[in-house]
Amino acid sequence: MVRSSLLLAAFAAIATVHAATKCDLDNHCPESQPCCSQYGDCGKGAYCLGGCDPLSSFGLDSCVPAPVCQDKTYTFKDMTGITSKTKYLGDPSKTDWVMDGSAVPYKNSLLLTMAPSTVGTVLATSRYMWYGNVKAKFKTGRGKGVVTAFILLSDVKDEIDYEYVGVDLKTAQTNYYYQGITNYKEGGNISLSDTFNNYHEYEIRWTPDSITWLVDGQVGRTKLRKDTWNATSNQWAFPQTPARVQISIWPGGLASNAQGTIDWAGGVIDWSGPDIQANGYYYAQFESVSVECFNADNAPGTNKKTSYTYNNKAGTNDTVVDGDKPTILKSLLGTGTDMNANYADSGSSSADPSASSGVAVIPGLDGAGPGTDGHPDASGSTTSSGDGQDGSGTAADAADSTETGFSQGLETNPSGAVAGKTWSVVAAVVAGGVVLGMGLL
Ligand SMILES: *[C@@H]1O[C@H](CO)[C@@H](O)[C@H](O)[C@H]1NC(C)=O
Ligand SMILES: *[C@@H]1O[C@H](CO)[C@@H](O)[C@H](O)[C@H]1NC(C)=O
Ligand SMILES: *[C@@H]1O[C@H](CO)[C@@H](O)[C@H](O)[C@H]1NC(C)=O
Repeated sequence: MVRSSLLLAAFAAIATVHAATKCDLDNHCPESQPCCSQYGDCGKGAYCLGGCDPLSSFGLDSCVPAPVCQDKTYTFKDMTGITSKTKYLGDPSKTDWVMDGSAVPYKNSLLLTMAPSTVGTVLATSRYMWYGNVKAKFKTGRGKGVVTAFILLSDVKDEIDYEYVGVDLKTAQTNYYYQGITNYKEGGNISLSDTFNNYHEYEIRWTPDSITWLVDGQVGRTKLRKDTWNATSNQWAFPQTPARVQISIWPGGLASNAQGTIDWAGGVIDWSGPDIQANGYYYAQFESVSVECFNADNAPGTNKKTSYTYNNKAGTNDTVVDGDKPTILKSLLGTGTDMNANYADSGSSSADPSASSGVAVIPGLDGAGPGTDGHPDASGSTTSSGDGQDGSGTAADAADSTETGFSQGLETNPSGAVAGKTWSVVAAVVAGGVVLGMGLL
């Protein structure tokens, strides 16, 4: 496992920031920390980059424009092209994947790891895919509560999933969501041979009219857009906005999670199971990911220019602009409306960005997990984690967070849309002295 004391310093720095401000569709971020991260916390810098939700941010233009799709096959021979989220500033020519957690190159593949007291690892592409075809070849993790995922997630929380629970190595669970609205009736399973011991090639073919999930070239499931009409909202409840590819391993079976999540994940994680004893972590093994853009001549689904932005809070495909806006921040003090913000003494930027700004600039180790899938318990309730200070806890709340870990619960606002998930993590990391090495610092 890669360890880095620098990283610990980075998390310690984050831990000194003020309590995070939460955000959702009804509670936008304030102007002083305008960007709503994927997990529903306000800040600048990395909060404004990949995953920043324009519909819950201060303004539609608070998030940094999202790099457009590019055809590319990513092979994981080493850590080339993978950048820690603490270093990424939005340049897709230098970074293919932004990482949260710890990965280990192993035999021409990459192990995404989940060590005890961590929430696992997620890699997200720097670029966004607006329809297209994506394939990933991997072996899942195994064990109670261990979840592996390969998903597409847009900034307005359209989502297309493959998920695997480590107690059922014969099933790929598929799902999709429109703007984060939880609807647990849309899941579908694909039966397979042992997903831990065998590589399979999982594929998502996504067009404006359909989603097809294929495994090893065989169609496992198809969902047509025409079958997704929502008469209440007068909309197609169909994923339609540019999305990042995310691959991850995460602890659905964390003892502090909602019971429904734990049950779905196959039970509470055994942090002394065989994989932990042998390697020190649970892991999922990724060999490659290949993206083919939809490459339309006209919207929707183009990738002709530099970046995607939204011009309307509807957040639908006809509000996406494929335009020329730049995607790169000068520093982690920047936002979509202040791309060139920088530290007075730029030399200090890498030392302790949060301390010198007083504003959260790197979301807490948000964990891996998919965007929407909260798996509420039988009563239909969901939970959110305790203190609402994800990524911003002080050393004093570290002990709390060690107990609460993170919650994969959802916060559902009155309109029924999901506001985002809460993960209390950084403090736990700091408290436990467990370093989630990023390997790239
Ligand atoms: C998919 O399989 C899991 C068990 O692995 C089960 O809990 C779930 O209900 C199945 N979903 C569907 C839609 O059949
Ligand atoms: C239809 O849209 C309404 C309003 O947004 C939402 O509350 C409801 O959950 C949607 N129904 C489904 C099945 O997605
Ligand atoms: C957006 O997608 C819908 C289907 O979801 C389609 O009918 C419509 O033409 C699309 N709008 C644009 C501008 O492409």
